[in-house]
Order: sequence, then structure tokens, then C-alpha cells
Amino acid sequence: MDYKLRKAEPKDVSDILRLVKELAKYEEMESQVTLTEKDLLEDGFGETPFYHCIIAETQENSSEDPKVVGFAMYYFTYDPWVGKQLYLEEFYVMDNCRGLGIGSGILRHLSDLAMKTRCTGMMFVVAENNKPSVQFYKRRGAEDLSQEEGWRLFRFDKDSLVKMATPAEE
Ligand code: ACO
Repeated sequence: MDYKLRKAEPKDVSDILRLVKELAKYEEMESQVTLTEKDLLEDGFGETPFYHCIIAETQENSSEDPKVVGFAMYYFTYDPWVGKQLYLEEFYVMDNCRGLGIGSGILRHLSDLAMKTRCTGMMFVVAENNKPSVQFYKRRGAEDLSQEEGWRLFRFDKDSLVKMATPAEE
């Protein structure tokens, strides 16, 4: 199956949200997705984009519209020891299109981008029970930093932030 990779455009937000929800369902955490198309539009396509996406699409024949079948969401972060990093936030290819090389193509595209922008690495988090993906990344040379270096993932949720933040004036 032929596929094409391209940068996401504002018209893609409904497909992006659809794939975000599919991945959350795959990870059995679908109920935690509260984001809307409006959020995606404002956050990804405003003056300061908070994320970028690469879209994978297939087209069965020239009379049909291309169909979005996969995506990667990423942004750039900074590591004070080694500098620029590409952070892979979401990576998903629809079930019926897996195993055809689309995921590897997306990683090639992101690796080219990382080289172009002189990033020193690509970071990402994978759920421990997502064994197929852990193996997919390991076969391509990824190191498991939780295991090798003992890092643990933390988050302040909104309630904790509100407690620490300057109280709103009455
Ligand atoms: N399904 C999955 N993998 C298959 C299948 C199949 N039906 N058939 C074969 N494979 C093998 C391929 O041979 C290939 O092996 P390789 O690693 O030795 O090359 C590998 O699995 C798949 O390679 P690609 O075809 O290049 O990648 P694909 O298009 O399947 O995309 C991805 C990979 C994105 C991980 C996809 O499998 C997926 O969406 N999985 C479910 C969601 C997921 O776990 N996403 C990652 C979460 S972690 C994060 O987002 C940072």
C-alpha cells in the first residue's frame, strides 16, 4: 500500500483527535482524553505552536480522497547536558495499516528532522505493558532509561498546581 507523509494542517485536527482517541483506547485510557478539536487548532496552529504533527495518508485510487491512517505528534525540548531533543509525544498507525512500513517511514522522517535541527536525541515514554511497541523501539536501538538510569516519571496535576500557584484575588 502506498502512503504519503506530510505536515499536519489545520484541516487535520478532527483526524488527529480521532487517532489520539484510538491510541488512548489501545492503551485502555480513552476516558482520560478531554481535549477538543478547538484546543488542537488553537494549540498547534497559532502564533506559537505547542506541538507539531506528521500525518500519514493512503489513497486507494486517484478518484478517492486520501485517508489519514497514522500520525506522530512531536515537539522540541532542551536537555541542559546535551542540548536540543526531539520529543515524540504520540505515534500511531491504524490497525489495518500496521506492518507495512508506515511507522518506520515516520521515524525516518523524524530522524531526518532531528539531524537537520541538530538534535542529540529523540525522547519518548512508552507504557510498560505496551510490549509490542517497547520491542519495536528496542529493535531500532532505543534505550530503556527507566531501567538503565532509574528515572521516574512525575506530574503535578492541575489541583497541585492551583495549590502552589499565587491565590486568585478575591
Ligand atoms: N501490526 C504491527 N506490527 C506488525 C504487524 C502488524 N500487523 N505485522 C508485522 N509487524 C511488525 C513489522 O514486521 C515490523 O517489524 P520490525 O520492527 O522488525 O520492522 C513492525 O512490526 C512494524 O513496523 P512498521 O510497519 O514500520 O510500523 P507500523 O506502521 O506498524 O507502526 C506503530 C508502528 C506506530 C508502533 C504501530 O504498530 C502502532 O500504532 N501500534 C499501536 C499503538 C502504539 O503502541 N503506539 C506507540 C505508543 S508509544 C508513543 O506514542 C511514544
